[in-house]
Amino acid sequence: MKRTWDPLPSVTAAGFLTLDMTKYTKYNHLYIKKWRGQPIFIIRKSAKMIESMNNSYNKYKKQDNKRDIIVADSHFLMYIGICAHLGCIPVYRSQDDNFLCPCHGAIYKKEPNGCFS
Ligand code: FES
Repeated sequence: MKRTWDPLPSVTAAGFLTLDMTKYTKYNHLYIKKWRGQPIFIIRKSAKMIESMNNSYNKYKKQDNKRDIIVADSHFLMYIGICAHLGCIPVYRSQDDNFLCPCHGAIYKKEPNGCFS
């Protein structure tokens, strides 16, 4: 029986990315993997980062941790690291807690609500 939540054959054919999340031990550090020719950004969140997301607001809505990838008790942010403007690869600036796309100067917050593609 076909279930509606099964991936499309084209998605299955393109493959999945399997990651060993125990390798990503540093908090607030950008790890980069490649999937289907695109950079995948992975950031492990510290307890402080999780707590600050629960207590912060942007002008549209409360930030939260709903889009975190949770493995055991670790929270991860994962993105396709492509700028939504013209497709460049942004640089992570952990000290400023954001990403900078160098070609046209776009700045993206780390929270997934306002991020790239
Ligand atoms: S491609 Fe990123 S700001 Fe233009």
